[in-house]
Amino acid sequence: MRSLGNRLQTVAEMLRTYAPFRCLADIGSDHAYLAVYVMKEGIASLSVSSDINEGPLDRGRSTAEKYGVKPDFVLSDGFDKLKDYAFDGACICGMGGELIADILLRYGPHPDCRLFLQPMTAQDDLRKFLWENGYEILEERFTREREKPYGVICAVYTGKNTAYTYDDLFLGQFRPDTEDFHSYKAKVHAQARKRRDGLLATGGDTANEERLLKYSE
Ligand SMILES: C[S@@+](CC[C@H](N)C(=O)[O-])C[C@H]1O[C@@H](n2cnc3c(N)ncnc32)[C@H](O)[C@@H]1O
Repeated sequence: MRSLGNRLQTVAEMLRTYAPFRCLADIGSDHAYLAVYVMKEGIASLSVSSDINEGPLDRGRSTAEKYGVKPDFVLSDGFDKLKDYAFDGACICGMGGELIADILLRYGPHPDCRLFLQPMTAQDDLRKFLWENGYEILEERFTREREKPYGVICAVYTGKNTAYTYDDLFLGQFRPDTEDFHSYKAKVHAQARKRRDGLLATGGDTANEERLLKYSE
């Protein structure tokens, strides 16, 4: 099968760690590379490729046909039209952190379903949502694709909230000493510096950003 690229490959490797899955959802699947990969690799017995738009589903059907596997394809906003499936895993990748949090909020608590989340932006908003709404972040992995850093979160609903600090929101609570994480941290640092400078210019409180700058050095 074609290379998934580092970003989706990191998701796939994380899925392999928690495999096998009885039924895996890929929400916002677009080309369905992940849904097809997990079936081809035996990571999931069934994968459900879903998207809010028909165009991506058609692209996904072409991928499935090309590689000779048969995921289900469902037109759905988040999990809305997927009520008949008993998922034990779900991926929501390549979207903003706020949208991922909104999709999870509408899905509701499902302790039997491991979540694999790859936010493109607003990672802090997504971690905040998870920690304040009874989800435990089991692990985070980091990678780079075309020089851009990405993080992948594995989470599960436990009903217990997690205490966190301001810098945890941006850096997570797993901070591996790897080149990929250092690259992620450098991006967080640059964004924190911008926010701190903005606050300095308007006379705002910079304490949180100063602390984040220190931890992301
Ligand atoms: C940038 S693509 C990401 C594709 C793939 N998951 C990846 O990571 O490469 C985002 C996809 O999410 C779909 N999408 C956006 N909002 C959605 C929602 N609320 N429910 C389901 N799919 C959604 C879009 O139509 C698009 O195909």
